[in-house]
Amino acid sequence: MELKLALIGFGVVGRGFTGILIRKRDYLLSKYNLRVRVVGICDLKYGSVVNSEGLDIIKALEVVRSGKSLEKEFDGVKGLGAVEFIDVSNADVVVEATWTNLETGEPGLTHIKKALSSGKHVITTNKGPIALAYRELSSLARSKGVKLLFSGTVMSGTPSIRTLIRGLAGCYVSEVAGILNGTTNYILTKMEEGLTFNEALRDAQMKGYAEADPTMDIDAWDPAAKIVILANIAFDSDLKPKDVIRKGIRDIKLDNIKDALRRGKRIKLIARAWVDGNTVKAKVTPEEVDINSFFGQVTGTVNAVMYRTDSLGDVYLIGRGAGGEEAGQAILADLIELNSILEESKLLTSR
Ligand SMILES: NC(=O)c1ccc[n+]([C@@H]2O[C@H](COP(=O)([O-])OP(=O)(O)OC[C@H]3O[C@@H](n4cnc5c(N)ncnc54)[C@H](OP(=O)(O)O)[C@@H]3O)[C@@H](O)[C@H]2O)c1
Repeated sequence: MELKLALIGFGVVGRGFTGILIRKRDYLLSKYNLRVRVVGICDLKYGSVVNSEGLDIIKALEVVRSGKSLEKEFDGVKGLGAVEFIDVSNADVVVEATWTNLETGEPGLTHIKKALSSGKHVITTNKGPIALAYRELSSLARSKGVKLLFSGTVMSGTPSIRTLIRGLAGCYVSEVAGILNGTTNYILTKMEEGLTFNEALRDAQMKGYAEADPTMDIDAWDPAAKIVILANIAFDSDLKPKDVIRKGIRDIKLDNIKDALRRGKRIKLIARAWVDGNTVKAKVTPEEVDINSFFGQVTGTVNAVMYRTDSLGDVYLIGRGAGGEEAGQAILADLIELNSILEESKLLTSR
C-alpha cells in the first residue's frame, strides 16, 4: 500500500521522522508492504510546499540543514498556512508535530480537527491537543471513519501508549504510575552527585535537555499532561491537565536528596493516576522511593511507567522518552499500525 503524508512542523521531530523514512524505505516495503510518499511539508520557519507528485525528502533535509527555505528550493503550491495546506494537499495522513501548548492546545488542535474533518488520518506527537481534547478528537475521528494515533505523546518511541491500548487489551487497569519527564529525572540524578538544583538545571540546559524557560518541566506541567493522556485511555476518564494535583521539583534542596540517600531512598518526580470510587484522580509530586525499587533504578533522562492490572499484576516499561529519532520512531510505529488497519479493512471488504 502507498500512503501519502503531509508533514506539519519540520523541527526536531518532523526531521527525525523524515530521516528514518529515508533510511528504512526498503525495509518498510519488504517487511510491511508500505510505500510512503511525502506530498507536503509545512513549517513556520522553513516555509510550506505541497506537491502531489511527492517531494524529494533527502533534499528537504539538506535544504533545511543548510538554513535555506523549502519554498525557494521546491516546485509546487507554496506559502500556505497549515489549515489551507491541509485543504490543498492530497495526503491520506497528516503528521502533526508543531510545538505543544498545554493551555489552548494550539496550533495543533486546529490542525488536527481540520485534518480529521477533511477525512484524513492523523498521527501526532503533540501532547497539548490530546491532553486537552482526547474525547472530542477521538469521537471526531470515529465519525469521519479515520484514525487518530498519538503514541509519541508519552515516552516518545518507548511504547507506553501502545502497550496500554494493545498489549494490555482486556486487562482491568487500576493504577498508572510513571517517571514521565526526563529533564526533571536528570536534574534529580545530578543533585545526587552533589549539584544544587540551580547547577543541575543549568547543566540540563547546556546539554539541551531543558528549555531556556524550564517551567513546563520543573513545575510538572509536562508530566501532568502525560499522566492525563494515560489516565484517559486507561480509565475512560475525561481529566484535563488542570485537574492534576501538581508539585514540581523547584523547592527540592540538596539536603533533602542527601537525607533520602542516607535512608536508602531516592526522590523521584512520580506521576500517578488511579480509580477512587467513582472518580479518577491524578497527581504529579516528588516521592521518596527505595533505591532498589523499579522507579529507584530509573536515572538520568530515562522514562518509565508501571501499569497495575488484574490479570498480569504490575507491568513495567522503561526506555528513552525524548529526542527526534525516538519521537520519529513513534510516528513510524503509528504509520505501520495504520497501514495494517487499512490493509485488513481492504481484505474484509474484498471477501
Ligand atoms: N523533541 C522531542 O524529543 C519530542 C518527543 C516527543 C514529543 N515531542 C512533541 O513533538 C512536537 C514537536 O517537537 P519538536 O521537538 O520537533 O519541536 P520543534 O523542534 O520546536 O519543531 C516544531 C516546528 O513546528 C513549527 N511550527 C510551529 N507552529 C507551526 C504552525 N502553525 N504551522 C507550521 N509549523 C509550525 C515550528 O516553527 P518555529 O520554530 O518557527 O515556531 C518548528 O519548526 C511538540 O509538540 C513536542 O512536544 C517532542
